[in-house]
Amino acid sequence: MRAIVSVGGSVLAPDLDGERVEAYADSIEAIRAAGHDVGVVVGGGSIAREYIETARAIGANEMALDQLGIGVTRLNARLLIAALGETARQVPPEAYEVAAGALFDGDVPVMGGMIPGQTTDAVAAALAETVDAELLVFATSVDGVYSEDPSQSSTAEKFESLATDELVNIIGDIEMHAGSNAPVDLLAAKLIQRSGTRTVVLDGTDPAAVRRAIEDGSHEGTEVVP
Ligand code: UTP
Repeated sequence: MRAIVSVGGSVLAPDLDGERVEAYADSIEAIRAAGHDVGVVVGGGSIAREYIETARAIGANEMALDQLGIGVTRLNARLLIAALGETARQVPPEAYEVAAGALFDGDVPVMGGMIPGQTTDAVAAALAETVDAELLVFATSVDGVYSEDPSQSSTAEKFESLATDELVNIIGDIEMHAGSNAPVDLLAAKLIQRSGTRTVVLDGTDPAAVRRAIEDGSHEGTEVVP
């Protein structure tokens, strides 16, 4: 199978813990060893947020803040590349075609952010579309897609499965409410809708969860189907 894995920064590097990064690298290597082609996109996590908040406090504008965030996602990507060693393309690709080329050559591309105004969720969805991935896995700090933001609403219900059109509607509703956290951003949801990529959103705290979702299709998250 050809799969793209989006690893949230809060999952890979909530703090700078080498063992956690190595555990993720081991899981990705095991997926490769089982015969799957895999590309990875890494988020910024709390370190990105700290940089962004510090720069915002000294008056940087949103474009500059996004550029800082992108810088941190690429640093996190390099951390995972260091743990993957020769399995990975050694530099985080800064173009989708370059990442696709690495994947087609049998390497693991590890990307960070790309352009301001989005998050790495959209990068993962765009990379999945570029390589015609059969599966896109979002390994996040939440365990799936809910009808509303569970941190804001006690009546939020988790979906076992939902259609790509429904994903776009739900994310749109969640993003309308200030302070809400959507499990994936709206641009990512729209890219998933147009490409029809089968997508799983799961709790990525345990890297083995990603492996199970790719190797035998089992997971406890939300499945998004075209
Ligand atoms: P993340 O993808 O980690 O954003 O990128 P996030 O969703 O806020 O973080 P998690 O998932 O909760 O951990 C970190 C920041 O980098 C910038 C944005 O400012 C984003 O908030 N970024 C990232 C971009 O501007 N463009 C990108 O393509 C990626």
